[in-house]
Amino acid sequence: MLKRIISAAVSAAIAVSAFALLPVHAADDGLIFALDFDNQTTEATVGRTELFGDIAYEEDGNGGYAARLGDKRGNYLSIADENGKPLLAGHDELTITFRKKAEAVTSWWLFAAPDDNAQVYGMEHYLGILDNGSNLTAERYNNSGARNESPTYAYEQGIWQDVALVITKTKSMLYVDGEFVSEKEYDFTLSEMLGKNPVIYIGHANWGEGEWSKGLIDDIEIYDFAFGDIDLGDLTELETNTTLDLPEVTDNIPCTVAWSSSDENAITSSGQVIVPESGKKPVLLTASYTFGNHTLNRRFNAVVKAADYYDYDLHVTNEKGVDIQDGMYGLFFEDINYAADGGLYAEMIENRSFEATKNLGKDYDGLYAWSAYKSGMLETADAGGLNDNNPHYLTFTSTAAGQGFKNQAYDGVYMEAGKNYNVSVWAKAGTYSGAMSAKVYSDGALSGEVKLTDELTDEWVKYEGVITSTKNVRNADFVIELDGKGSAHFDMVSCIPEDAIFGIFRKDLAEKLKLMNPGFLRFPGGCVIEGYNLDNRYNWKNSIGAVEERKQNWNRWSTHMADGEIDNGYKHYNQTYGLGFYEYFLLCEYLDAKAVPVVNAGMACQYQTNELVPIDSAEFGQYIQDALDLIEFANGDVTTTYGAIRAQMGHPEPFNLEIMGVGNEQWQTSANEWHTRYERFEAAIHEKYPDMKLVGTSGPGVQDNDYNKAWTWIREKSAENDDFVYVVDEHYYRTPDWFYQNAHFYDDYPRDVKVFAGEYASRRVNQPNDPKANTWETALSEAAYMTMIERNADVVYMACYAPLFARLNYTQWSPDMIWFDDVSSYGSPTYYVQSLYSNNSGDYTLNSEVSDNTEEIYETVSYDGATGDVIIKIANPYGHKQRVKLTFDDAIMLEGGADASQIAGDLMSTNSIDNPENIMPEATSYSGFANGMNYDVPANSFTVIRVHTTRNATLKNGNGRIKNGMIADIPYGAEYDANGKLTGSWIYE
Ligand code: AHR
Repeated sequence: MLKRIISAAVSAAIAVSAFALLPVHAADDGLIFALDFDNQTTEATVGRTELFGDIAYEEDGNGGYAARLGDKRGNYLSIADENGKPLLAGHDELTITFRKKAEAVTSWWLFAAPDDNAQVYGMEHYLGILDNGSNLTAERYNNSGARNESPTYAYEQGIWQDVALVITKTKSMLYVDGEFVSEKEYDFTLSEMLGKNPVIYIGHANWGEGEWSKGLIDDIEIYDFAFGDIDLGDLTELETNTTLDLPEVTDNIPCTVAWSSSDENAITSSGQVIVPESGKKPVLLTASYTFGNHTLNRRFNAVVKAADYYDYDLHVTNEKGVDIQDGMYGLFFEDINYAADGGLYAEMIENRSFEATKNLGKDYDGLYAWSAYKSGMLETADAGGLNDNNPHYLTFTSTAAGQGFKNQAYDGVYMEAGKNYNVSVWAKAGTYSGAMSAKVYSDGALSGEVKLTDELTDEWVKYEGVITSTKNVRNADFVIELDGKGSAHFDMVSCIPEDAIFGIFRKDLAEKLKLMNPGFLRFPGGCVIEGYNLDNRYNWKNSIGAVEERKQNWNRWSTHMADGEIDNGYKHYNQTYGLGFYEYFLLCEYLDAKAVPVVNAGMACQYQTNELVPIDSAEFGQYIQDALDLIEFANGDVTTTYGAIRAQMGHPEPFNLEIMGVGNEQWQTSANEWHTRYERFEAAIHEKYPDMKLVGTSGPGVQDNDYNKAWTWIREKSAENDDFVYVVDEHYYRTPDWFYQNAHFYDDYPRDVKVFAGEYASRRVNQPNDPKANTWETALSEAAYMTMIERNADVVYMACYAPLFARLNYTQWSPDMIWFDDVSSYGSPTYYVQSLYSNNSGDYTLNSEVSDNTEEIYETVSYDGATGDVIIKIANPYGHKQRVKLTFDDAIMLEGGADASQIAGDLMSTNSIDNPENIMPEATSYSGFANGMNYDVPANSFTVIRVHTTRNATLKNGNGRIKNGMIADIPYGAEYDANGKLTGSWIYE
């Protein structure tokens, strides 16, 4: 035993023999390393050093010397403890201090890593303190593929800075010149990252060439303790005389904490809170940690408020602002992200008609999504198929009873126990003419079945049945199974849950839309309308009639690249048109929303092929005719060609189409004559249907040149022709900052031509499959922006977010409003913001004022005649609450009650399949709601308050008046001019 101890000591001595032998110091104050270069050597006063290469000493301005270690490869120090052992090994709590004067970047001051292997970017394990390109940063990485963030401070060149890095198990905290500047949290400790034998360098990192210190370093000290956090909670709402617990020691650490206050009359240095009689007092509390000859300051903002203090007075006047269009907030539907097939269209079978193509529709791939179950042979054929639009079908040959063919059904079949699924298959006998069943197998076990027929015939026949699932199954196989040997032919294999709305729309998705109470539905896109090329455009006529006769198309979102780059994982994205124009109109009826179909104007997507139909060609005439026929399909009498098709499809009554769009987000170029195209459409449509309201476009981006040109043209034309456009579709996908910065965008817009904010989303990123792109931060910025949209409802007639749906793992574009998988769906934070707006729009705005709105809160107020509610919406994007005093002109008589819906949360929060209601509104009801009441609006929140009134308000409307009231139980409004003459009356619905 003794022998072994001695040999261990000897081997340790050998291991440290390269270190200079220095006096050993006792570290009773926690100091485990100290080096000041004052005697122009690298001898440490505590701990040991080993010098590599040369060193230069320069006066440090403090009467001593500093070291210039780096500058060139090979000059640096390796440091160790007094026994020559790795200094940082086993230490999870440390305070590292030094002074440095950077002269260039990148400049490494201290570096510690598990060994001296070169670091691999994105896979690093090290602690480093350096001046990088723009920051002084204290990196602490334990990465496996992603970089964490680090505490940082601005890079300063040519000045001495005193740096202190306090390291705890969970944090790194950076101080510069004694002041706390930044901190970051970590989920790993230093010893977990550095291991048992780390290397520690001063003036060098093992990144290879160029990773040196560039400047002077001095007074390096390392302490084996860290003063952690002081958590005083939220000090910004101190409203009572109390005593704060201000700790003066930190546990077992040779360090004292002294407190001082910027206002002893508001909070004393010992923590006594003294509430003022009125107003509020901001106070800075400072904790000064003293150890060795260092003092580090940590400051805490506090606000002491009088009991009746409020941040803002939001005053609601009895002056009518502007009318809010009925159904102003609507939906944008596009078949992007598998929103239609694989999404809202409840069909569970993928490539049901064996018509799939891939690679921009160029390659037929009819067996895509199909394979043999057990055994058997699958082939496609097109001789004697169902019809010319759907020529291909499957010929399946079985070699034994019980074989069949199965479908991949996107993520496999999901079925719920006890639920019914409607199955249909078109089939025709070949050499096999026996029985056919549809079955569902989960891990080989049968979970549902239906015999569709005992016998196939020589004709195509549609066989139907219902599968009732015996259990909950996921990723299951949907199989068409035969009872014997031989070949037979199959097409249009379908399985739709019985609870699908109208047998068409996936229930959970359709119901989510319904709950939004949207005013309109714009469809079928988006760029899908334009198509990658003209052949690929959305031709609405291909989307109507019997589903088995609809001509399938590939989806333009199978590529997002101008050059048609296709290897994006979605090359099989097709459009079956099972969800076609008829179904969109039905959806509008279900939602009680106005239909806003958009037609192609003879132009393919301008970001892609930009293919054009010559404007004077007969073909272009056909595009115009298609638009006219669409109106006939929607509204025409059953005796008209397209009205008859609608009736035949089951809807003899008209769909009452009022608004339609021409073109998506087109812009004029020297080649495309977009303006003339629109003018031709407009003239033809209004000649036949003078009341049809048309949606024009200002192009893909607000504020760019094309947008300005578009508006100039539209204004000129609208000056001559009132009906030239009903609204102009504007698109903006921008950052949250943009939404805040533009929160007055429409305040000064000319009022002559109206706007349709037809596609917008706040986003930090746009990338495939990123449900986390929908944060509360993005939704809150939309909520703030929408207060302005609503206040400007006299110019913004319609608004909708885009895109609407995204199937998880099938998404080409995120953020999106509603996410789903095979089983369930959830609304993003944006969904709840949009819902709050569309369910609480009101009939017209009431003018409102916010006093002293320096740190802007975003608000809009409207009046809802049907309920008599004054609806107040407030977005507070700040990290602290705002107390708002709500005052009302006396003419608005409050009934005493109010209902609020509020969303608040951490800005980076998201919803998810597993946590679908993480961010969603919470409802609160108030009684005794009085004029002048203080209302606390939480940090990072959006609030809608419906303040109930007696309905007996008399409102100012210009020089006239609006009298609201009730006759029997019917709410009404009556308008009087400046002379008191009744000029109109209405019933609120
Ligand atoms: O919403 C996604 C796309 O954005 C739409 O298809 C297009 O109109 C816009 O560029």
